[in-house]
Amino acid sequence: MYTAKFYFNFIWFFILILATFLSKQTTFSNDLVHTEIKYESILENHSKYNSQNARNKTFQGGPTLVYVTPWNNHGYDIAKIFKGKFDYISPVWYNIHRRSINQYELTGGHDVDHDWIKEISDQVDGRHVKVVPRFQFQGWTQMDYQMLITELNEVDSLVDTLSLECSKQGFDGLVLEASYIILLRNLVMRLGAKLHDQSQELILVLSPRKPSIPYFTADQFEDFSQFVDGFSLMTYDYSSHETPGPNAPINWVEDNILSFTPKMMNRGKLFLGMNMYGADFFQGRAEHITGNTIIRIIRQHKPIIEWSENFGEHYFQYQEDGISHIVWYPSLKSIESRLQLAEDYGTGLSIWEIGQGLDYFYDLL
Ligand SMILES: *[C@@H]1O[C@H](CO)[C@@H](O)[C@H](O)[C@H]1NC(C)=O
Ligand SMILES: *[C@@H]1O[C@H](CO)[C@@H](O)[C@H](O)[C@H]1NC(C)=O
Repeated sequence: MYTAKFYFNFIWFFILILATFLSKQTTFSNDLVHTEIKYESILENHSKYNSQNARNKTFQGGPTLVYVTPWNNHGYDIAKIFKGKFDYISPVWYNIHRRSINQYELTGGHDVDHDWIKEISDQVDGRHVKVVPRFQFQGWTQMDYQMLITELNEVDSLVDTLSLECSKQGFDGLVLEASYIILLRNLVMRLGAKLHDQSQELILVLSPRKPSIPYFTADQFEDFSQFVDGFSLMTYDYSSHETPGPNAPINWVEDNILSFTPKMMNRGKLFLGMNMYGADFFQGRAEHITGNTIIRIIRQHKPIIEWSENFGEHYFQYQEDGISHIVWYPSLKSIESRLQLAEDYGTGLSIWEIGQGLDYFYDLL
């Protein structure tokens, strides 16, 4: 005879089976996102990701921009694997030099890889990933800046040089990185107008808010946002060899959002910076470390990994040749907290850079 208890157990059995089945459908990394993590779980799972979800964007805050560098070329593969998660891919290819009066030269064009661009920029679900290489000022003197700030001829020469390269190479726009960007309003205005005429976009790199360094005010942000499609805000490298600690304390990241965009309406153009690298502090030095290095250190030293509630980041200590090291490196949990922050405020993301992280980080994007 079947008792009520039997039926009860029977039903529970099916609920459990169903729950197990459904949990397999969610993002692979979800059950690994914890403040308490063990080194074993990183070693065993860091290179696994949910391939069925690799082209589906989960982040809801706004556009996602990711940088790729030729010197960490794993990023080229990550761009291909996860391309549906990204709205902009910015290969770090170009430098801008001022050679003489009204003479600008671009270097780095030899790194442009058209086969790769073709592979990443075909459509995913009717969406096209935009390729917007980064152009960075290099070797500029005070005088060079002075000329560009005061002479409109100089501005127009540089605008022509940049916009010509963009059309020639078929880019969707560019990311511009220069010091003293606050003073380059004419350049930003004219370059923005020119690129928009060509149906291309302009994204500006912005320094984060730090004591003693001048940064954009909210009004300047609003003013410049007329001319550009996004700001890539470098909210990382908060700590240094002089002050070892977290790469991007979560409260500081939040303060940055609020100081640039106290008003909600401008936040769509703010692409919140997120680091995929970490730092190893020892003997008054700070070394940047990337995915490969962190895995080597963890495998060798089996550290106890700790969570800092204040900063929202994981860290650990280890000893090598009698020297004490302390390492801060992103984790699934630290990344998830920042994605949550960006979603809560309605900002986009800018990630430096996808050749440096662990593969399972990208599951969350
Ligand atoms: C690796 O991930 C799986 C599935 O998410 C999990 O069950 C397992 O415990 C993880 N490995 C370790 C050593 O934590
Ligand atoms: C990802 O997107 C594809 C195509 O839209 C869809 O068929 C698939 O079910 C999605 N995967 C997940 C895990 O949501």
